[in-house]
Amino acid sequence: MSERIFIGVAWPYANGSLHLGQIAGCYLPADIFARYHRTRGNDVLMVSGSDQHGTPITIKAEQEGKTPAEIAGFYQTEFLDCWQKLGITFDLFTTTGTENHAEVAQDIFLKLLQKGYLYKNTVSQLYCPKCQRFLPDRYVEGVCPSCNSSGARGDQCEVCGKPLNPTELIDPRCRVCGTTPVLKDSEHFFLKLSDFQDRLEKWVEKQGQWKPNVYGLTTRYLKEGLRDRAITRDIEWGVPVPVEGFEDKRIYVWFEAVIGYLSASKEWAKLQAKPEKWRDFWQGDGKSYYFIGKDNIPFHTLIWPAMLLGYEGLALPHDVPANEFLTIEGRKISTSRNWAVWLPDYLERYDPDPLRYILSINMPETSDTDFSWREFVRRNNDELVATYGNLVNRVLTFVYRNFDGCVPEHSKYIEIREYLGDLDKNLSKDHIIIDIQPAGQDMSGGVIEDAKNYLFREAGYRLSKCNFKQALSNIMMFAQETNQYLDRKSPWKMIKEDRQAAADSLYVALYAISCLKTAMYPFLPFSSQKVHEYLGFDGNVEDYGWQPQSLPPGQKLREPQPLFTKLDESIIDEETKRIGT
Ligand code: MF3
Ligand code: ZN
Repeated sequence: MSERIFIGVAWPYANGSLHLGQIAGCYLPADIFARYHRTRGNDVLMVSGSDQHGTPITIKAEQEGKTPAEIAGFYQTEFLDCWQKLGITFDLFTTTGTENHAEVAQDIFLKLLQKGYLYKNTVSQLYCPKCQRFLPDRYVEGVCPSCNSSGARGDQCEVCGKPLNPTELIDPRCRVCGTTPVLKDSEHFFLKLSDFQDRLEKWVEKQGQWKPNVYGLTTRYLKEGLRDRAITRDIEWGVPVPVEGFEDKRIYVWFEAVIGYLSASKEWAKLQAKPEKWRDFWQGDGKSYYFIGKDNIPFHTLIWPAMLLGYEGLALPHDVPANEFLTIEGRKISTSRNWAVWLPDYLERYDPDPLRYILSINMPETSDTDFSWREFVRRNNDELVATYGNLVNRVLTFVYRNFDGCVPEHSKYIEIREYLGDLDKNLSKDHIIIDIQPAGQDMSGGVIEDAKNYLFREAGYRLSKCNFKQALSNIMMFAQETNQYLDRKSPWKMIKEDRQAAADSLYVALYAISCLKTAMYPFLPFSSQKVHEYLGFDGNVEDYGWQPQSLPPGQKLREPQPLFTKLDESIIDEETKRIGT
């Protein structure tokens, strides 16, 4: 039975290049999850897009003397290029600048207004007398009323993550000129979040599948009590407010950006020429997952759900597997201080899979983790090249040369207890001897059972729970065990004495490699596809399902090339020097 899986991924502001923190935070985990489910044969819709409104874009445009649309367009192109090179497989990566998005956002706005969830109110707003304008949230800085750290922005404190109204800041200042702003009246729409308190409490209580950090932060806000929030702004760049008298104002970026998940689904359906197909993911019994960084949690666990509850008839998030932060060389990422590794730079110099590997094996799932170039080089050389790459390489090259470029014939029964023996102490201990059946018969043999247990069932379970780090280390362990098996069997020597014995152990190794390329696929799609082809399979890894595949003796191999490249230690210094300068 195929499941429907909706995957929403945080919409990056189109005001700067992507950096590794964002990739580890949400884009890579989302893609791993999407590839896993697609391989299982599930129906996946993964969407996101550039968040092109809001002051992050206008501030950048002002700095560069360009229009906000120019800035947004430039980064949209760069993002698309990065997704393609890194293998982040969105079904649609659009922008909040489309007509479709404005329509969907205005529809939700008007529905909520009609149902009494929005109301007008005159607010005293911060106005900079020197700049002579109302100050958008991000143009105000001050001390966070919640954690007391300075430099908190008017929309949110980056240190404690609390969403803020700019008037809540202690000692507010205009970010442009440093003047203390004054209060001035302006009329705005408010979302009655307080109305949703009870419903959200009841709903959140049932979300036991959420990670502790997501659940904890959300219930903390609920305990503090939800307060109504202004959802329009005195700015020119954004989605127009569909109400008379509000022509000079725009819908607040956070209110419309989260609507992007729905508008992108509708746009995707139209592009499929099945305009109603978005409903499969929003109104059926599928599940929705929102991959975001931890700074975006309340917007996805409280505000967006409130909007959906108010609108009615659309599915609420099933899970919001927000990651913690990635630090770089031991320090918090700061884009303004260039303390970051930029994705376009990385992709210009290195292959995508090593990055996907290191960010997965060290993913900030439950606590902050660190990226350093030293670790990158070490893991690339010791783990990707020496463990996995070397396994694939030595087996495929040897078989290719010694068995006429074909999968070797194996004996009728291959005893593989030894191979299974110490694979994973935590899993079923008493392995039975199962035989690999002769070619042409049902392949219900031991490596298959083994791979089903260790790779497809265990790692699959962990993948389905967004436990990526653990899933990948399970898979790597399987590669490690296969190497040890080969060291014991030593077919390279054995071939001189007993060609059939060598063929048997090589067959087992090839089989394990064939399983590995499927299990590795969500993490390392580029190298998995290569292995898939070297083994003589056609089409895409994904088409063959999340399961062992039969590997008929005699199947023609394709000439193998090394999977990964050893990196020189000198890049550690070279790359580290670029950070922060
Ligand atoms: N643009 C926001 C950020 O980078 C994220 C928006 S997620 C969305 O923090 F769902 F609201 F779009
Ligand atoms: Zn000012």
